Amino acid sequence: MSRRKLVVGNWKMNGMQAALDEVAAIGARAAQHPAVEVGLCLPATLIAAANARKGGAFIGAQDCHMQASGAHTGCLSVAMLAEAGASWTIVGHSERRQDQGETDADVAAKALAAKAAGLGVILCVGESLDVRDAGNAEAVVSAQLLASLPDGAAADWLAIAYEPIWAIGTGRIPTMEAVATMHAALRAALASRIGEDAKGMRILYGGSMNGDNAAELMAITDVDGGLVGGASLTAEKFAPIIAAAN
Ligand code: G3P
Repeated sequence: MSRRKLVVGNWKMNGMQAALDEVAAIGARAAQHPAVEVGLCLPATLIAAANARKGGAFIGAQDCHMQASGAHTGCLSVAMLAEAGASWTIVGHSERRQDQGETDADVAAKALAAKAAGLGVILCVGESLDVRDAGNAEAVVSAQLLASLPDGAAADWLAIAYEPIWAIGTGRIPTMEAVATMHAALRAALASRIGEDAKGMRILYGGSMNGDNAAELMAITDVDGGLVGGASLTAEKFAPIIAAAN
């Protein structure tokens, strides 16, 4: 089954209004590669303004709350994010699982809330270095995926991002063989839950993806794109990754 490549920048806690010029430059590069679905998950403070300058890219959020409204100081609902112009959101990034103590159940609930608001969802999973060194990364990450997967998960609104925690922002990546093994294991885990639709669900790789390694990573059978941190902050660095997905 052919899966359209999905390449998404996660700006994390980076980006002032002055960075909107980079959003526009990335959007212009995205428009040159219509075969690739390109997005930028931005700080919420930039979403509305970025939406007017997104070119061929979509604008997404980095997190959402699972409830529609209420006494949750500092949080943002899916309706707020959608109204601001987000059409996707990340859920379950390892930095939120670690820093905010988000559980697999929280991640599944956030994904369902996002779906109800019409947002696409990128659901993140990944192992620590200890787990990788212990030699059971595939089993651990597959279990994390199945525990985080919302009811009704389907390829037309949900994508998975495999991000080994030890590869994020470190310049280190797994071997290509290890990435291939993990992505195949995750697709098998998906198939055990959602059947045939697993063949259409995109599984992105994230963690120190850059213009030098993107083509090789995305040539792996079960790698359907990338979730990119540092190398998505400028058009100069992100454009080669978009092109590599083409
Ligand atoms: O979500 C993307 C991310 O965690 C990877 O970050 O900077 O290693 O590309 P980076």
